[in-house]
Amino acid sequence: MTATYHVKTFGCQMNVYDSERIGELLEAEGYAAAGIDTADVVVLNTCHIREKAAEKTYSDIGRLKARVAKPKVVVAGCVAQAEGAEIVARAPAIDVVVGPNAYHRLPALLARGGIDTDMPAASKFAALPPRRAVSPHSAFLTVQEGCDKFCTFCVVPYTRGAEVSRPADALVAEAQALVAGGAKEITLLGQNVNAYCDGATTLAGLIRRIAALPGLARLRYITSHPRDMAGDLIAAHAEVPALMPYLHLPVQSGSDRLLRAMNRAHTTASYLATLDRLRRARPDIALSGDFIVGFPGETDADFAATLRIVADVGYAQAYSFKYSSRPGTPAATMAGQVPEAVKDARLAALQAAIAASALAFNRASVGTRCDILLDRPGRRPGQLIGKSPWLQSVVVVSPGARIGDMLAVDLIDAQPNSLEGAPVTLTRAAA
Ligand code: SAH
Ligand code: SF4
Ligand code: F3S
Repeated sequence: MTATYHVKTFGCQMNVYDSERIGELLEAEGYAAAGIDTADVVVLNTCHIREKAAEKTYSDIGRLKARVAKPKVVVAGCVAQAEGAEIVARAPAIDVVVGPNAYHRLPALLARGGIDTDMPAASKFAALPPRRAVSPHSAFLTVQEGCDKFCTFCVVPYTRGAEVSRPADALVAEAQALVAGGAKEITLLGQNVNAYCDGATTLAGLIRRIAALPGLARLRYITSHPRDMAGDLIAAHAEVPALMPYLHLPVQSGSDRLLRAMNRAHTTASYLATLDRLRRARPDIALSGDFIVGFPGETDADFAATLRIVADVGYAQAYSFKYSSRPGTPAATMAGQVPEAVKDARLAALQAAIAASALAFNRASVGTRCDILLDRPGRRPGQLIGKSPWLQSVVVVSPGARIGDMLAVDLIDAQPNSLEGAPVTLTRAAA
């Protein structure tokens, strides 16, 4: 009988991409996909960014090992990299621990068991099988990995290693395979995607090359660091039609004192100046960000400054997190750790401000027409949900339309997290 596998993904889009590649790798080895309750091999592709995310690994291991037909369990991803042998000490039934830079060696590891958290100099990408011919209409493509920024709260520089960019030619070829398989939209991924650099090719250069592929309608990139928003990238927003008018640019806090303590290498003023340049290049650009509340030493005045920057920027959406102390990071041992109750109150206030900002952004688009790329069914029968150029979720009822189609809609109503659209013209996805 064919052996089966299941990959469960936690964390960011980089892990989503890695999980796809792990699936392709196992299928090339003869495994077939199956559900988590029946698969012979279960890969947990884990996230270490906050304590809660990391702890999910252990509750899942417990549940899997309680299965009657015990699967082989592989811990992959950032918890694997950060904790390595500690995972086996804490959960001895684990068969394989493999880091985010070593998973191309998974087949051999599955045969013998063990731990591989090397960060080999040779890229895993060259050792992986080519992308599958059929891909979803919207695909991820990792172009850069790792981080050299060392924000004082963050584990990523330790779990993903130094910044490395993949060769531009290989990326254009991979993008071409994705488009040939049906992708209309590609999102370029990197922990610091705008630090991408292959010789003379910057992220802007890569965007121009990939945007030129016939059949590709939309191009996005995530996540960027404010320090690496180069002039040529800002210019690409003005000049490359396929590049969508949306930018996720985390600022983390509105307080310069905290930004210094976080080692962010930007100020609120430099961040706002970057946004001004972007808006001059692309006036309709939608902005998104990440925020941390309760960083060590954060006062009421610091938090008030965060609420101010949210109001000033007018984010289309944003993500906010309670600071989570991570082992080995400089912030973990800083004075002034903030009590949980204070973090809870600040998070609630920030989320209310972000929701109000998102609603204002969505309301402002009511009465306009745009294309949406249909990507999932809605909650009610007959409903489909698609993404606008500004990454808004738009709910429509459009008989005959299918996921993967591009649909022109009139935006007729707005909520904080979605809009309602009335269908205008359908562009059928290539079969
Ligand atoms: N490289 C990206 C993504 C980093 S992780 C960037 O720099 O933006 C995604 C988000 O998680 C970060 O932007 C930050 O807001 C949040 N985050 C990272 N470490 C955290 C921690 N220790 N506690 C709470 N949130 C954290
Ligand atoms: Fe973490 Fe900062 Fe690097 Fe982002 S830039 S991954 S927050 S260290
Ligand atoms: Fe998590 Fe690793 Fe991504 S820690 S956010 S899975 S880079």
